[in-house]
Amino acid sequence: MNVARLIYRSIATADVVSNTTLRELEGQAATANAKAGISGLLILSGNVFLQVLEGDAAAVTALFGRIATDKRHRQVELLTFDASVPRCFEDWHMRLVDLLDLPGDKRAYMASKYRVDNDCIVVPGDVCQACALLLDARHLCLSAPWNRPDSEPVSDQPAA
Ligand SMILES: Cc1cc2nc3c(=O)[nH]c(=O)nc-3n(C[C@H](O)[C@H](O)[C@H](O)COP(=O)(O)O)c2cc1C
Repeated sequence: MNVARLIYRSIATADVVSNTTLRELEGQAATANAKAGISGLLILSGNVFLQVLEGDAAAVTALFGRIATDKRHRQVELLTFDASVPRCFEDWHMRLVDLLDLPGDKRAYMASKYRVDNDCIVVPGDVCQACALLLDARHLCLSAPWNRPDSEPVSDQPAA
C-alpha cells in the first residue's frame, strides 16, 4: 500500500540538543506516530535535524503542521512531499540517529559519501541527497548491534 512521504530539515534550538531531551522527544513521537500509523526517522547532525515521515497524507500533513511550529527548532524547511509512494522507512514509528554518536567506522563511511564541515556531516538541501542520507542512516541502524527495532511492526493503518 502506498503512503505519503514528507522530508524536512531544520535547525535545533540550543536547549534541545541534549541527549535526555532528544530521547524524550523520540519516545513521545514514537508513541504518537504509532497511534497515527506514521513511521519515520529523525537524523541529527550537529544542530541540524533531517526527518522523514511516512503514512496517511492527512495524518502526515497534520503532524508536520505541529512540528513546523515547535519551538524546539527553527528554519523548518520542507524538502519534499510525495502523496503516494511505497513505504521505505517502515522499521520504526520514530527513530532518532545522532550522527555524532555513530561508531567510528560508520562515521567514516558517512564522511566518505557526504560533505563534512567542522566534523559534522552536512545535511544536504537537495532532495535526492537528503533521501540518500536518510536511507544510509536507516541501513546503518539496521546493520548495527545497537539497533532497537520497534516491538510492534509498523502498520499502514492508524491504531484502533
Ligand atoms: C525535530 C522534531 C521532530 C518531531 N517529530 C515528531 C514526530 O515524529 N511525531 C510527533 O508526534 N511529534 C513530533 N515532534 C513533536 C511535535 O512538534 C509536537 O510537540 C507533538 O506532536 C505534540 O503536539 P501537541 O502538543 O500540539 O499535541 C517533533 C518535534 C521536533 C522538534
